[in-house]
Amino acid sequence: MMNYFVTGGSRGIGAGIVLQAIEEGHDVAFTYLRNKQAAESVIARAKEIRPDAKCLAYAMHVGDPEQVGRVGDQVLEDFEDIGVVVNCAGVNRDNLVISMSDEEWADVIAANLSGPFYVIRQFLSNFLANRFGRIINISSIQNNGGTGQANYAASKAGLHGLTKTVAKEYGRKGITANVVVPGFFDTDMTRETMPQQNKDYWKKYCPMPKGRMGEIQEIAKVVTFLAGPGGGFINGEVINVTGGLNWTY
Ligand SMILES: NC(=O)c1ccc[n+]([C@@H]2O[C@H](COP(=O)([O-])OP(=O)(O)OC[C@H]3O[C@@H](n4cnc5c(N)ncnc54)[C@H](OP(=O)(O)O)[C@@H]3O)[C@@H](O)[C@H]2O)c1
Repeated sequence: MMNYFVTGGSRGIGAGIVLQAIEEGHDVAFTYLRNKQAAESVIARAKEIRPDAKCLAYAMHVGDPEQVGRVGDQVLEDFEDIGVVVNCAGVNRDNLVISMSDEEWADVIAANLSGPFYVIRQFLSNFLANRFGRIINISSIQNNGGTGQANYAASKAGLHGLTKTVAKEYGRKGITANVVVPGFFDTDMTRETMPQQNKDYWKKYCPMPKGRMGEIQEIAKVVTFLAGPGGGFINGEVINVTGGLNWTY
């Protein structure tokens, strides 16, 4: 059994990953930004699934290196060891390039790209000491570019470059790094900010029965697979969990 560190574990896909890891017998430290109540309900659910599970939540802005350092040190004190890091926290602030503000650009790059860099750097010493580590970074099909999402697309494409570099730098030390690309999943992010035309597009083109969305467990199980023995020889890869629709307009 291993200890997981999951960013953005209070809601959506991140919460699904936390609970899947708990179900499989692992202990989990996870982070949230502001939503303490949601974090507490994930902990309560984890305790229902496995009453002896250790599952703790930490407030942290992933784009702030000072907070990542402080929380990372605290997590290592509380758990002694982390074997798996999942960078799932993410935001979108859509706008066409011509109208995109510096703030919209910087906020998304900070959370989605700088954040994973700070988190990976933070846990590398622990991984190197153990000669073992699993890093899984959650991207998006928008890494190919998506109208109105220059900041988000650039952050996710950058995440692929970061992941492949870490895979090359540290693979020989027993540390793997991979990207998981979710298609369309029903979460607050897609419910609140995804335009209806994108949902219609998905329904029309996704080669799945009735153009369905993914179930959160269908991505969480891929993450725990990559972190487990089955994923041991997978390094620097991009795994699409998209039902076969890997492009957008
Ligand atoms: N849903 C999809 O269909 C889909 C598709 C492609 C890619 N993705 C990717 O999957 C990941 C999870 O998405 P989701 O749909 O599950 O999102 P979500 O439901 O909106 O949840 C976002 C999570 O990230 C946390 N968070 C947001 N900004 C943060 C920051 N600056 N620092 C630290 N934590 C922060 C939130 O914490 P609080 O609860 O405190 O706000 C929450 O736990 C993201 O990286 C997203 O880009 C999702």
